[in-house]
Amino acid sequence: MQNIINATKINTFLDSKNILSETKDVYRSVLENLEVFANNFEEKPLGEILSLFLNQDLKPKARIMYNSVASQYLNYIDKIEKMGNIEPTVKPASPIEQKTHEPKQKPVFIGQEIDFSKLIKFDDSAFFVNKCEPYHAIGDEVEKAELALLSGRHFCIRGKAGTGKTSLGVYLANKHNMPVVKIACNDGVKDYHLIGSKSVDENDQVKHEAGLLMQAVLLANKYGKCEVILDEANTLKSTTMKVLNPFMDETRFINVNGYGKLELIEGAQLFFYLTMNLNYAGTNDLNTEFKGRTTMTEIKNIPREMQKAILSRYNVRSDIIDKIIDMTEKINYQQSINEIDPLTVFSTREQLTALSMIEAGIDSGMDEKKAVKLALSVNFTEKVYEEKQQRQIERIISGVFEGNRYE
Ligand SMILES: Nc1ncnc2c1ncn2[C@@H]1O[C@H](COP(=O)(O)OP(=O)(O)OP(=O)(O)O)[C@@H](O)[C@H]1O
Ligand SMILES: [Mg+2]
Repeated sequence: MQNIINATKINTFLDSKNILSETKDVYRSVLENLEVFANNFEEKPLGEILSLFLNQDLKPKARIMYNSVASQYLNYIDKIEKMGNIEPTVKPASPIEQKTHEPKQKPVFIGQEIDFSKLIKFDDSAFFVNKCEPYHAIGDEVEKAELALLSGRHFCIRGKAGTGKTSLGVYLANKHNMPVVKIACNDGVKDYHLIGSKSVDENDQVKHEAGLLMQAVLLANKYGKCEVILDEANTLKSTTMKVLNPFMDETRFINVNGYGKLELIEGAQLFFYLTMNLNYAGTNDLNTEFKGRTTMTEIKNIPREMQKAILSRYNVRSDIIDKIIDMTEKINYQQSINEIDPLTVFSTREQLTALSMIEAGIDSGMDEKKAVKLALSVNFTEKVYEEKQQRQIERIISGVFEGNRYE
């Protein structure tokens, strides 16, 4: 490891970088940490040392930064050694190198600080997910989404309300330490929301205010990857979808009025994660070229065991959870035969809200039975407006909870 990381090489690397001196100091301290760390594990292969280094107890943003600095350094040292500028080092075989399948070399990514000279400042730390609920895979949707992410493609997930589509997108950002720009799509989203517009800063200077897509591109250029969640993507106007196209294929740039070229730099990746609920009002299909740029999967029904895992988030007895699942199934059936308004959504979201209310009620000293009754009323019964349908939901609830016969 001494051969790969030492003071001389760190200096050579830092000299090659055209970055602010404060940034250089940060880079130096990361690399010196890595040097000290590596010296403790001299017998281990480089790949393993790096992964131990990045798996230390770090904040997500710090981990991304460590990862970026370490890979820039190793790429640089590798490159100049190949050119013969520095005495060659014997690289310990990493676990990946021992595989018969040689992974394809990824383009070298050198992170680019966001240049705010022409832009109104924004806080890039706001784009990191610091905590999220665990996601329970229903089928192979997580692996499919990760394949899309790892291969530089995009992913679209469709399914009914409350099937976890948006949650999976956020979970992926958290798991892969990516900043994420979450866009609540609708037909009122305009180009300037995505690209930005002219504005004045606090010193009355005319600057460009970056739109959401522009922020995503700048974040990807800085951190290597950025996820763009297009929530309910099929509500976007067809013309708006076209603005996104250049960032979903190889073109990777657009010219922005009053700003110049907005470009995704070499090695930077924008991962578009689209969600769609075909049952929601005001939705269309994706236009052909947009659809052509994403891979797709569908979440079908959530198996009972998985529903239980998702619903056990709150401290509520498991037989109550079971009954809530039974009750929802029965209500959903009545919706399918139009006895209860099919457009009212009774999904995981309503079940979770009811459970959170039951938990809160019990915690505050309310009688459990009363907490269940009230929570089910406001999340189920009173969500439909017609009295007849409300009575029907009440009958389902009492049938399930009190063992009355339900027909
Ligand atoms: N597979 C899952 N694992 C963990 N939580 C889940 C899962 N599916 C649903 N949930 C939970 O259910 C709730 C609704 O999920 P989410 O908002 O992701 O659904 P959605 O499919 O995006 O719904 P909509 O179409 O209404 O936007 C969230 O609280 C989420 O945590
Ligand atoms: Mg959603």
